[in-house]
Amino acid sequence: MDYTTKIANQVFHHLFINAAGVYCQTFEELEQIQNAPCAGAVITKSATAKERSGNSEPRYFENSVEHNTINSMGLPNLGIDYYLNYVLKHSLKLPTLFSIVGLCQKEIIDNLKKLQASDFSGLTELNLSYPNVSGKPQIAYDFAATREILDNVFAFYSKPLGVKLPPYFDIAHFDQIAAILNDYPLAYVNAINSVGNGLVIDPETDTVMIKPKDGFGGLGGKQIKATALANVRALRQRLHPQIKIIATGGVTNGRNVYDHLLCGADLVSVGSQLGIEGPTVFARLEKELEEIFADKGITDLRQVRGKLKLIA
Ligand code: FUM
Repeated sequence: MDYTTKIANQVFHHLFINAAGVYCQTFEELEQIQNAPCAGAVITKSATAKERSGNSEPRYFENSVEHNTINSMGLPNLGIDYYLNYVLKHSLKLPTLFSIVGLCQKEIIDNLKKLQASDFSGLTELNLSYPNVSGKPQIAYDFAATREILDNVFAFYSKPLGVKLPPYFDIAHFDQIAAILNDYPLAYVNAINSVGNGLVIDPETDTVMIKPKDGFGGLGGKQIKATALANVRALRQRLHPQIKIIATGGVTNGRNVYDHLLCGADLVSVGSQLGIEGPTVFARLEKELEEIFADKGITDLRQVRGKLKLIA
């Protein structure tokens, strides 16, 4: 299969990316994604202006049997300069996405000014959806704040930029966020981030599984697949066609990738299952996807992308 996909100035030869947060905090982890068979691109951990240690531990729990995770990492990262050094000083085999975050609007703008002034030529992803920093509501649930930030960003930022979105659960909210995003020259949206503020309980000890926020954290893995598919589908139906979609959420097998393509995904990112299985996951997913294509006689991605069927 020819997987060649373009987003803005970047050409991807495989569909898969690590989800920001997974295998992307250090040079070593980023290199593992760069070298992973069937990886299509690599994204850096969402970077703040300065290094952050994040929330207290334990802050991540995975159920590798059920393929589910909960995390409250709290944006641990090595700071924007560390990731700029990585993307500028290393020879990169894959297209690179630079994830940017800020705990206030000034930090977002300052970070983007730094990227704008740099020689970075990949895609920039503005994370508007981190759910795990106490006292900081997810920006993209506040439609007025989202518009204000995008107004201020696009007043100066001229490199290809996408946004990472939280899941939406209401048709009116799909309409509202899409109407806002369509007003800007976005290269893509990445949907969805983890489903915020779930709670997982250990049945042996009756205790929460993670420490920060008294156990509340972002859910990932199989349990969020239906929500992720709905968000990809709803956004594809509403966004201008030039705004591409990176689908994230609930991908554990090739069929899940196929389903995201049906909903309109251009690329697919993998978080929980990458954490559980490691970077060989991409090759397994691609092999399973190829088997589905062979069974269905599909020879071109255009036969699948956005071709979800409805009941008449
Ligand atoms: O807690 C975290 O670091 C999560 C970040 C995110 O969901 O983007």
